Amino acid sequence: MLQDSAVDKLLGLDPETVIDYERKNQCDPEFALNPRIRDSWVGLASNVLNTSYQDLFDLLTALNLPAGTRVVDLGSGFGRLGLVIGLGFAGLEFTGVECWQHRLQAAQEIAKKMQMSNVHFEHGDLLSGDYQIPEADIYFSYLTSSDPQSLKSILEKLIQTHNRNYFRLVTKKVAPDLMNRLAPSLSLLKTHGNTLGPFFIYEHNPISSITENQA
Ligand SMILES: C[S@@+](CC[C@H](N)C(=O)[O-])C[C@H]1O[C@@H](n2cnc3c(N)ncnc32)[C@H](O)[C@@H]1O
Repeated sequence: MLQDSAVDKLLGLDPETVIDYERKNQCDPEFALNPRIRDSWVGLASNVLNTSYQDLFDLLTALNLPAGTRVVDLGSGFGRLGLVIGLGFAGLEFTGVECWQHRLQAAQEIAKKMQMSNVHFEHGDLLSGDYQIPEADIYFSYLTSSDPQSLKSILEKLIQTHNRNYFRLVTKKVAPDLMNRLAPSLSLLKTHGNTLGPFFIYEHNPISSITENQA
């Protein structure tokens, strides 16, 4: 069993430094006036904000992705998905997108220090018209937004940008009936259990989307 605190220690990540910074500064303009503050989950404990390392390891093991698979985390938080990939899934290509620089920086520093050449973290606001979501074979979204309208906008942007490509999307903590309303063109393939509720695995299949549109 991978204990989050043990893995953080092994990696040299001190989540309390990041959380403390958020708690102390959340009334400052940097946070209070930031249009993404509602989606930030600022000040939450690390193990609530982030998926556990064990759950991510189990998910990746169950997915059994072939070498070369591109994985993108839509809102990478403290970077745990990328860090698990860097430690144990050398064949995968990971990009984590995060709009809060202080979270991103913690993950970037570890990936660099541990020489994880297949792991990349970038700054981006998924809701900004200027930001293009990277192309991937599989996306991951754990409560990228608390607001269904924002989540819908991100999913629409993802589907519009990569409409011609087959991709999968793994979600967590978004009920499938809500997902069905937010992104009806995605099909639920299966669920994968974890300690805090299941992951839902969807597919975007451009061929069935075209057929549905023509029907
Ligand atoms: C609940 S956390 C999940 C973190 C990580 N994916 C995990 O499962 O461990 C969601 C993350 O999405 C980020 N986020 C929310 N809205 C975003 C946006 N518009 N652009 C980029 N990142 C965003 C938040 O800042 C937060 O760090």
